[in-house]
Amino acid sequence: MKISEEVKQELESIYQRFFHDEKVQRMKVIAMHRGCNCFIHSFRVARRAIKNALRHKSVNLKNILIASILHDYYLYDWRVDRARKKHHTANHPKIAIENASKDFEIGEEVKAIIDSHMWPMNFKIFPKTKEARITGMADTMVATREVLTSIAHKKKRLDNYYKEIEFLFDK
Ligand SMILES: [Fe+2]
Ligand SMILES: [Fe+2]
Repeated sequence: MKISEEVKQELESIYQRFFHDEKVQRMKVIAMHRGCNCFIHSFRVARRAIKNALRHKSVNLKNILIASILHDYYLYDWRVDRARKKHHTANHPKIAIENASKDFEIGEEVKAIIDSHMWPMNFKIFPKTKEARITGMADTMVATREVLTSIAHKKKRLDNYYKEIEFLFDK
């Protein structure tokens, strides 16, 4: 779908608001797929999800954007938190929803997108809407790429990563 400059700017400003939010920045210390962190991962998913969503007709871009930024907003390190490690795959979407609802005002559609993002790994919660399927697919694409690349956690590489996700739309 084609979006107006106005919509584009609105989405970019939502993206920027979350990107610079202190609470969201806490995801930077949450480790993720080798050499990455939860913050970089989440904003990558947001960029990928919006890119993919623009190929569809009439989808709610705002909900996709907010849900993808917050889909992994669980804020604990499952590698060290042993009690949570075992059920991380199944439980972290619910914890992300809980944290996100506390820190931001998010609607039911956004919650539903976050809830089903682990499908089909978490087979019980199926993505019922197009928005949920787009977000889940973007997460899988980004996570796969992250697992396949970067082994070492290098500062220089991280700086590049941050540059990559600085804006929702490429300049
Ligand atoms: Fe996740
Ligand atoms: Fe994710």
